[in-house]
Amino acid sequence: MTPPAGAEVAALEPPAARRLLELWNDQQSAYVAHRDLRFDAMADVLRLHCPDDLTILDLACGPGAISDRMLAQFPRATAVAVDYDPILLEVARRALHRYTGRVEVHDVDLVADGWEEALAGRRVDAVLTSTALHWLAPEQLLRGYTTAARLLPAGGVLLNADHLRYDESAPTLRDIACRHDAQVQQETFAAGALTYSDWYAEAARHPELAGLAAQRERRFADRPPQAPASLAFHLAALRTAGFAEVGTAWQYLDDYVVFARR
Ligand SMILES: C[S@@+](CC[C@H](N)C(=O)[O-])C[C@H]1O[C@@H](n2cnc3c(N)ncnc32)[C@H](O)[C@@H]1O
Repeated sequence: MTPPAGAEVAALEPPAARRLLELWNDQQSAYVAHRDLRFDAMADVLRLHCPDDLTILDLACGPGAISDRMLAQFPRATAVAVDYDPILLEVARRALHRYTGRVEVHDVDLVADGWEEALAGRRVDAVLTSTALHWLAPEQLLRGYTTAARLLPAGGVLLNADHLRYDESAPTLRDIACRHDAQVQQETFAAGALTYSDWYAEAARHPELAGLAAQRERRFADRPPQAPASLAFHLAALRTAGFAEVGTAWQYLDDYVVFARR
């Protein structure tokens, strides 16, 4: 429902935003098998490696899934969450309302020069991101990794959870991973999860969000999906970006949490 032009639109109520975040998590779990385990691996790395008053940069935060989990698990942590989708930004701001004083949400286009200025020079101990950097072209990904490396102090970590498809050297694994994805989607939707586009339809039922749909469409109109990069490409890009140690913190078929330390 789009409000009439000129009408004042109230901010989304935190309970409605929390509900949309839950629906988002269910929806994403259809596309990412064992999504919770990805986040558990990230949390273990933070717990065992970072100070407990760490600052997390949640890159391409969507409605705030990573920040929500990490702020709940690490009561002394703070987070800076950034994204470019106006609908998801509004959901994140309101869903993370319970952490007021420990979280900032910023409107940032990760392919624009100088996006890191949103951090206003603040210290970052860990850069976390999930199901997002595959939107970046290879040169944009390298630039993003280079900026992240510059933001982190020595010892700081980056964790990128994403599907990194097997290449033609592993056709059997590629086929199994592809069929596994299809099976998980079928089962999760059958159990009642919304699809990605159904989630946006649900969000649009809130007048506080409906008016943001056109802006979202404009912003992402010229962003074609990229061919998925290989694990080898990510590891090489992270080394080139200035990380001293790179590897995988977790893997399930073609789904990885890529690790890099400054
Ligand atoms: C599938 S969502 C993942 C959100 C969240 N990290 C999660 O795992 O639930 C991908 C996110 O990447 C964001 N994104 C894509 N391109 C972006 C860009 N250039 N700058 C900032 N965010 C971007 C989208 O807006 C979206 O929120």
